[in-house]
Amino acid sequence: MPAGPLRGTIRVPGDKSISHRSIMLGALAVGETRVSGLLEGEDVLATAAAMRAMGASGERVGEGEWRVHGVGVGALLQPEAPLDMGNSGTSTRLLMGLVSSHAIETRFFGDASLSKRPMGRVIEPLSLMGAAFDASEGGRLPLTVRGARPAVPIEYRLPVASAQVKSAILLAGLNTPGITTVIEPVPTRDHSERMLRGFGAELEVEEVAGERIIRIRGEAELTPQTIEVPGDPSSAAFFIVAALIVPGSELLIQNVGLNPTRAGIVHVLRQMGGDITEVNPREVGGEPVADLLVKHSALTGIEVDPAIVPSMVDEFPVLFVAASLADGTTTCTGLEELRVKESDRISVMAEALTLAGARVRETEDGMVIEGSGGQPLPGSADADGPVATHLDHRIAMSMAVAGLVSRDGVLVDDTRPIATSFPVFEALLEGLIP
Ligand code: S3P
Repeated sequence: MPAGPLRGTIRVPGDKSISHRSIMLGALAVGETRVSGLLEGEDVLATAAAMRAMGASGERVGEGEWRVHGVGVGALLQPEAPLDMGNSGTSTRLLMGLVSSHAIETRFFGDASLSKRPMGRVIEPLSLMGAAFDASEGGRLPLTVRGARPAVPIEYRLPVASAQVKSAILLAGLNTPGITTVIEPVPTRDHSERMLRGFGAELEVEEVAGERIIRIRGEAELTPQTIEVPGDPSSAAFFIVAALIVPGSELLIQNVGLNPTRAGIVHVLRQMGGDITEVNPREVGGEPVADLLVKHSALTGIEVDPAIVPSMVDEFPVLFVAASLADGTTTCTGLEELRVKESDRISVMAEALTLAGARVRETEDGMVIEGSGGQPLPGSADADGPVATHLDHRIAMSMAVAGLVSRDGVLVDDTRPIATSFPVFEALLEGLIP
């Protein structure tokens, strides 16, 4: 039986990208940085543990309330043991950047999912800055980084649209004499730039012929800050889609970060006919935020503009679910990067949705989805086994949302990865189901 209407008010936890960055920069600013609304998911805790291992200290003083005591740019210490990155690509790539310009030699390792992900994209620019790497086959974890002191500033044009690669270079640039420059042909999330500026780094952004040129002056001195982390739009996306596709729903989702480099999903769902209203727009922690009032809507399939991909790169799994319930065909292209996330999100979602009875076709760089026109999906009862989530939190949450609009429900093999980014997901969802 499909779930009844989702009604009420929820608040999404802190943004994962911003939480990682607030711990890292807090750990580099001499004195006490106060963070509220921190996402206490496993990925962010991996970052916190690594910063502790390199000399910073921090304590949790309440739910999402942290005090970070920083050591200063250039003063990170050699960790005594290899750094455990768990499932977190953001921790790994950003910390590889930080270590690259410090006199530190350390090893990074992670879980089976993270150990399959490409690190060559950060190894290349960081090697140009002088760091040395000893990586596993194919430029993967486990790997050892030997930082360069002093590192050399570079000018680097990003070959892939990746905020993690951009941020790794900027963080390495923090302790590199001179000016480090990153050129972004396609803009990606700009939380690092906003927060580096907020901490007092000299960072300039210039737009030239559609490209973003970001320059940071190294050997920076950061000043401790008080940071309120806004809610995570990537977490909100599961509830936005759930409210749109479960008949009769009307949900107020509070505290949703709507930075334009992140908010593509709201735009695309509105293009499909989704009724999403921004209430009480405001600024939190230097980022635009609003509450979103979402009402059940008859969605229509569309062709998704590939130019919007970077601003919703993590939201495609749940968009595929929304499209499975829409009227008509949705076509997504330009999704190559999805294949190197926590799982290959194109093929894993194609398999998962097929198992749940949706009509989808995987393509080399995307997905074509024939929507059910609002009819519930059959669900996974007739399938040979549960949906395989491949250690990917967003697959587990997306398929839980698909289960809400299915006749027999959808069984997923492993919900534990949800704790990496959204530990209260299941409790929030259960609290809404009548
Ligand atoms: C992130 C950047 C994105 C995103 C990830 C978080 C970040 O990765 O998928 O969840 O915090 O910078 P890429 O930079 O690989 O696109």
